Amino acid sequence: MQHKVKITLLPIGKEIAVNAGTPLMDVLHEYGVEFPCGGKGVCGSCKVKLLEGHLRTDPVQQRKLQILGLENSWRLACFCKAESDIALEIAQFENIILADNSTFDFRPQQGFGIAVDLGTTTLVVQLLNLENGHILDSVSEVNPQARFGADLISRIQSCLDGKQTEMQNLIREKIGEMIRKLQKYPVDVSKVVLVGNTVMHHIFSGLNVQPLSFYPFESPDLGFQHFSAKELNWDLPDYSEITFFPSIGSFVGSDILAGIAATKMTERDEFTILIDLGTNGEIVVGNRHQIICASTAAGPAFEGAKINQGMRAATGAISSVTSQNGNLVCHVIGNGKAKGICGSGLIDAVAILLQQEKIGMFGEIDSGEEKIMLDSGVFLTQQDIREFQLAKAAVASGLQILLNKLGISFAETDKVFIAGGFGNFLNIQHVIQTGLIETTEDKILKLGNTALIGAKMFLFEDENFTSKILEKTSHINLEGDPAFQDIFVEKLMF
Ligand code: FES
Repeated sequence: MQHKVKITLLPIGKEIAVNAGTPLMDVLHEYGVEFPCGGKGVCGSCKVKLLEGHLRTDPVQQRKLQILGLENSWRLACFCKAESDIALEIAQFENIILADNSTFDFRPQQGFGIAVDLGTTTLVVQLLNLENGHILDSVSEVNPQARFGADLISRIQSCLDGKQTEMQNLIREKIGEMIRKLQKYPVDVSKVVLVGNTVMHHIFSGLNVQPLSFYPFESPDLGFQHFSAKELNWDLPDYSEITFFPSIGSFVGSDILAGIAATKMTERDEFTILIDLGTNGEIVVGNRHQIICASTAAGPAFEGAKINQGMRAATGAISSVTSQNGNLVCHVIGNGKAKGICGSGLIDAVAILLQQEKIGMFGEIDSGEEKIMLDSGVFLTQQDIREFQLAKAAVASGLQILLNKLGISFAETDKVFIAGGFGNFLNIQHVIQTGLIETTEDKILKLGNTALIGAKMFLFEDENFTSKILEKTSHINLEGDPAFQDIFVEKLMF
């Protein structure tokens, strides 16, 4: 009998067991890898990065890779077979990494700075001229720690299993490599600002992650972390100040602190809301006097996990759904055949199915059937709709509790900023209709990569600026609120 081998796909975090010797072409198309030239080795679109294990190459493939300008770790999937356990990075994922080119106010300074958004899944590094705020260059990559698991819990577990130093080295090396890529601009960088969630902060800085693994999830090491270029082995001048910015709470990191800066809520009397629907589903409400924030367990459903045919926003994902003459019209990323559904498509599909009364107010499929077909081969099951309800109730009840704590209603808030790459693709009407955010359309604004915007703002400020935000910000444990259960159950309904 043929033995099985394991293919791990990153950053989507899927593991597939296949017979040894299976051509990658037979399995990868389901996960967004396309083979436009049909395996002739001329288009390069099927490129995958070999992160772990071995994939045999031959002189023909080597030559094609060379012509396509691909380095050693790349392979053309159309040429390869899985003969042993391997981990691959799917390059097609690259297109959803969100850099940022927005403008913001700044106080001109001398020299150059680098802003780093260190995400669980993706990394973005930007080089700025601090005199005029111009972005000279950006580099985006997938976080190489993704091979240790897609979510924060599995990263923490890997640290506890003795892999923290390896993960720390990986991320430091990767960002160092990205900084080297910026160096086609021969400038002296005086400042580097890193922001990221608390787990990323701890792993990068070599801090003990254990307190993040059990109740009450309180780490004593949330503060600023300073480094020299020498200790990180980064190709930067000795005098450059490299700082990982502080976290607000154990599951609300400096990416959200940067988001608070990006919204400028600390300058306004009116209350502003910031929602990041990424892995942790962080919510912030505040004004110039007071800010409170919390994290929710909303992420997995919106990131494709837990949904039967869920996937990230890559080629083949249904990213939006509309209705025409009562029929569902699905937009598929890459305009090919639908292979699954991503977060924005999921929200749209549920909203349209509610409009068409195919789903009832308790989330039940009215026909009594187990699933609803969306596009050829892609459907939503009753279980998927339940998962969606859990995710949307987590966000809606989290927001309600924060508003209750401040003693204000939705009507008393001024703006709702939606952060992150996922937020950029949302249909706001559908977000409101499903009850995910219970406000009016005119109040909701998509702000893009707020972590990166804030990191760039930090380049122009001293640490006092951040400390002042932290002084007025408190972190709330939602589950600890006595009203949480009741509000959560109420928000489960449509
Ligand atoms: S499919 Fe074109 S190079 Fe592999």
